This record gives sequence, structure tokens and C-alpha cells, in this order.
Amino acid sequence: MKLSTITNAKQVFDLVRDDLAAVEREFARQSDSDIRVVTEIAEYLLAGGGKRIRPLLLLLAARALNFQGESRIRMGAVVEMLHTATLVHDDIIDTADTRRGRPSANTTWGNSKCVLAGDWLYMQSFQIALDERNFHLLDLLISLTQQMVEGELLQIQKLGHLINEQEYLDLIDRKTASLFRVSMQLGAALAGSDENVERLFGEYGHNLGMAFQVIDDVLDLTAEESVLGKPAASDLREGKATLAVIHALERGTGEEREAIRTVLADRSFVRVPHKDILTILRRYGSLEYAMDMARAYAEAARQSVRELPDSDTKRALMWVPGFVIDRDR
Ligand code: IPE
Ligand code: IPE
Ligand code: MG
Ligand code: MG
Repeated sequence: MKLSTITNAKQVFDLVRDDLAAVEREFARQSDSDIRVVTEIAEYLLAGGGKRIRPLLLLLAARALNFQGESRIRMGAVVEMLHTATLVHDDIIDTADTRRGRPSANTTWGNSKCVLAGDWLYMQSFQIALDERNFHLLDLLISLTQQMVEGELLQIQKLGHLINEQEYLDLIDRKTASLFRVSMQLGAALAGSDENVERLFGEYGHNLGMAFQVIDDVLDLTAEESVLGKPAASDLREGKATLAVIHALERGTGEEREAIRTVLADRSFVRVPHKDILTILRRYGSLEYAMDMARAYAEAARQSVRELPDSDTKRALMWVPGFVIDRDR
């Protein structure tokens, strides 16, 4: 089979379907706490679905290196639990009221319980990783968590302010791309790969994660909440200037820049409606600029694994970046 013949999601998910189902069961098993509310929140989020892209990456990385040990399932659950913990905290920070097409956990259980449930999930995922008795895995996970927290903190510091493209890229690297990178690195590390392979897999994850967040930010500007399953047009309302907005700010007239600044400062579309902002972004090709940047990261991801020998797993790794670009939620 040629590289070009693997084109659909089903073929990719068929490869790891059983593994992903096992990750699901492991997550459920590991969410069991004596304190009922923790289990309730964890189960609620698990049942809400989600793309499961981080465990998918870890499983594909392990598979590409012919690793079949059970720890791939446990570590797959670890990255999805970590991700879930960040979502619980992120929705509190962003005062978001929907997630995965349902009320977000903070609307149902309130902020205090959700902060603690998020902490519990972080620690539970570390506990599972600790059982592997492998310092390298813990090293990756601990620096990762610090980076993600730093990313969210940086974001809070920049709220309402105009940031430049470099600051934006640094921020999304920490808050999102780092977990994609580590998911790939963990898969490689489990397989006992050498530093070089782990680095290449990490590069793939980093580039894919950058593409992923740029697309998330474009979708926030252009998509419908009913499709996204989470609030749309929320970044500007939260005071966040994302790539397309930064692009337009650097090119717009004084009046256009003022319109964008007003929304960021007001954190609302009361004085300047959302459609006016979209008109400005379209005028400068800013959404297309962001899409092109995402496509370039996606291509860089593919390049990082191009030396792997041809296999169904390699073809899956080559397919994922396109999926990330073309998705609608
Ligand atoms: C949402 O991640 C948070 C971001 C990094 C943008 P996902 O889009 O992977 O969320 P789920 O898991 O599919 O719901
Ligand atoms: C991703 O940023 C945050 C995390 C890494 C948890 P967003 O704030 O854009 O994520 P969504 O859009 O709420 O999923
Ligand atoms: Mg958010
Ligand atoms: Mg978003």
C-alpha cells in the first residue's frame, strides 16, 4: 500500500481501536475515589467524549516502534487524565459554561470542587506513571505540567493586552503543544528508543500541537457553538488576542485597530459586534494567514517522521496532521 492510499479516519482508528478502548477502561478504573464527587466529575468528563488525540498519539508512537507492553495503555490514560485536568481548570479560568457539548463541570459542581477534582486528576495520573518506576517518564510529565501551568499563567498576564506573534507562539507552545510533544515522547520512551528517535517524535508532537492550537483559535473565531461543543467567539470576549487577530492588528487602520482593542479591553461585543471583527479579519486575509501557519506546522510534523520505514502506523502518523487541520471541532 502506498502512503497516499491511507486516507480515512476509520483506517487510522481501526489500528488502535482496541488500545483506545482499553485506555478508556483504564481511565474509568483510575477515576475511582473514596470521595464521590471526584469520581462523579471524572466520570462526567470521560462520558462527554472528546477526540482522544493525545492517547492516540502515544499509542501510534509506541506502535511505530513495535512496543506492545501494557504500559502503553496506562500511559495513554495518563495523558488523557492530564488533559482532562487541564480542561477542568481551564473552564474555571475562562468562565466557560459548555464543554464537549454539555454544561462544563464548573457550571454543575462549582469552581471550588472543580479546582480540587482537577488537582486530584493530576495527582492520580502521576501516581499511575509512578508505578512504571521510570524516572524519565516522571521527568517528562513533571516538566510538562509546569510548562502547561506557566502557559496558562502567561495567558492570564497578557489578557486584554496586545501581544506579538512570537509571544503568541511561545504561549501556545507551553499551554498546548507541550502535551502533544510529551505524548509522542512517552510513546517513544516506553519503546526504549534512543534519544534521537525520542527527539524526532517529540518534534512531530510539538509541530502537531502548534497546528492544533492555531486551528482551535481559528475555530473559536469562525465556528458555531453547536458544532464546537464549547463556547464560540470566546477568546476575544476573554481578552485573548489569537494569531488571526494579531495579524490584523499589525495591518489594520487606526480605526480597525481601535475596534479590536475595544473588544479586548471591554471583553465583550457590546460596543463592537463580532461580525465587525470578522469583517476586519477577512479584509486582511488574517484567518487564511493563521490557516497557512497551521498548515506549515502540520507539514513540519509530517517531515519529522518521514524517515520511518513504511508501515500502516507511519501512514497513520502522516494522516493525523491533515485531520487536525480539516477538523470542525
Ligand atoms: C481542547 O483540546 C483544549 C485545547 C488544547 C485547545 P481538545 O480539542 O483535544 O479537546 P477534546 O478532548 O477533544 O474535548
Ligand atoms: C487551551 O486553550 C487550554 C488548555 C491547554 C487546557 P483554550 O482555552 O483555547 O482551550 P478551549 O478552547 O477552552 O478548549
Ligand atoms: Mg478555554
Ligand atoms: Mg480555544
